[in-house]
Amino acid sequence: MGAVTSTMDYQQVLEHIAEEIARTPGRGRSADYIPALAARDPRAFGMAVAELDGTVHGVGEWREPFSTQSVTKVFTLALDLAHEGDELWEHVGREPSGNPFNSLIQLEYENGIPRNPFINAGALVVTDRLHTRTGDAAGELLRLLRAESGNPDLDFDLEVAASEAAHGDRNAALGHFMASYGNIDNPVPLLLDQYFRQCSVTASCADLALAATLLARHGIRADGTRLLTRSQAKQVNAVMLTCGTYDAAGDFAYRVGLPGKSGVGGGIIAVVPGRCALCVWSPGLDERGNSVAGVAALDLFTTLTGLSVF
Ligand code: DON
Repeated sequence: MGAVTSTMDYQQVLEHIAEEIARTPGRGRSADYIPALAARDPRAFGMAVAELDGTVHGVGEWREPFSTQSVTKVFTLALDLAHEGDELWEHVGREPSGNPFNSLIQLEYENGIPRNPFINAGALVVTDRLHTRTGDAAGELLRLLRAESGNPDLDFDLEVAASEAAHGDRNAALGHFMASYGNIDNPVPLLLDQYFRQCSVTASCADLALAATLLARHGIRADGTRLLTRSQAKQVNAVMLTCGTYDAAGDFAYRVGLPGKSGVGGGIIAVVPGRCALCVWSPGLDERGNSVAGVAALDLFTTLTGLSVF
């Protein structure tokens, strides 16, 4: 392995990665601030690669459903951009925050405009705007994920959503604070309900790798229709690269070299534009909320295959 060939043996690469990961002792800790997530085994591991034609390769627990959490922020961003285009960027920035995903600190001195759509504050703005345009932001997301994964059984996990709502003071604070600047249109409790349901969608590595091929195909959906312009798909990929793993985005870009987006359920999606999309899952997180084995596996993938954007 090492050279990029037109007929990459993804299955062989994935099996090699799984063997390496199995030898890794430290795996981090499952998120416990949402009690319903704390029960997952931090050592569970699965990984899938989806090619642009929908062929999927996988290893480990690649068909096991898990809580997608912040990975969904990519798809709500894509949906909102498709609806309103550049106007979104007047309400949310596109700079790395250098702060934790749930931080409030920049919001006051930046007048209620969040740094980017992938920290919680920015994702709340995106969901709010998508809800205003569609009347059902979480439902739009679920429909998109079902269609792009080809899995009609994808659904919300209402137990996870309720668990998050019960521990949602920080997200509520973010929502109310931005509302005080006029940057939230809907009533905050309604927005939080949409956001928590969005985060609760359960899907497998196979489902999310397939869904992420939308971005590898430069905005073209699985059915051949276009959701995003090529330029918008580039924008989403670029923001994933610079902001998708929070205050670890620099290290992720250095190690992996691909646009990627993590969630505290332990999932990470990554995109090789024009080539394939990946999803890896392992619930053990580092202190910044990124899957330890997930980042290591993506690092190995780009090292073994030479497939990166650089
Ligand atoms: O807003 C929250 O706290 C979560 N539901 C989503 C956070 C998340 O996945 C952040 N990612 N690493």
